[in-house]
Amino acid sequence: MRAEGLAKRFGRVTTANSVSFHVSAGEVLGVVGPNGAGKSTLLDLVNGGQRPDAGSIILDGHDVTSLDAAARGRRGIARTHQIPRPFGGLTVFENVLVGATFAGQSRRGAAYERAHEAIATAGLAHVENVQAGSLRLLDRKRLELARALATSPRLLLLDEIAGGLTDRELPELIEVIARLRDSGMAIIWIEHIVHALLQVVDRLMCLAMGDVVATGDPHAVMRSPEVTEVYLGSIPEPEDETR
Ligand SMILES: Nc1ncnc2c1ncn2[C@@H]1O[C@H](COP(=O)(O)OP(=O)(O)OP(=O)(O)O)[C@@H](O)[C@H]1O
Ligand SMILES: [Mg+2]
Repeated sequence: MRAEGLAKRFGRVTTANSVSFHVSAGEVLGVVGPNGAGKSTLLDLVNGGQRPDAGSIILDGHDVTSLDAAARGRRGIARTHQIPRPFGGLTVFENVLVGATFAGQSRRGAAYERAHEAIATAGLAHVENVQAGSLRLLDRKRLELARALATSPRLLLLDEIAGGLTDRELPELIEVIARLRDSGMAIIWIEHIVHALLQVVDRLMCLAMGDVVATGDPHAVMRSPEVTEVYLGSIPEPEDETR
């Protein structure tokens, strides 16, 4: 996937100025940047949740900028949301089945199989029949992941999937992401928890106020003066999402 010259404004707020980047199969691109930098909006532009004011999204050499999120989903783009958005009254399995069905699995059996597989990969088998509304944070995060995986994506967009998790919960999630990458998936992972990102990303991009301030080797990016300045010398803290 290639993004070329993406621009997006909401009134006077510029969330993307002229943002270009790419991610390949079997690669994880990490995205960091302060709150309000435009990271989540960027994922919306990639998956079709938002239309850019300028620029384009190229998937497998085809311009998909005019396609909506559903059409891009069928072409293999799936995202998770920063704040988990399950159907609270449905079970975990039912939630994931919606994703599998959305992906155009016309045979009921195939959709069921896909849903079970996604649940197992995300580490949710133990709560498959529990109502999504009663899940703890880690499992709600896993459910976001399972719902995305159920669509069999080739490009997976993760928006702070580790935010609010404890240090004990992180390694398992990182391992899942590494395995997906190794299976050939392209992944874009936004995260404030830099030490988690650094364990798995191949390249890192730092955004600030809609601009790419640095991109490339993850450690080099974190050490660069541009990024240090953006964070004013502080290491970004994970968001408190434990509510
Ligand atoms: N739909 C919208 N309408 C108006 N303004 C928006 C909309 N979506 C985002 N914004 C604004 O765009 C800016 C960038 O928001 P975005 O959510 O992309 O930032 P972010 O980098 O993901 O931040 P965070 O780290 O807090 O999640 C913010 O100022 C936000 O208020
Ligand atoms: Mg965000």
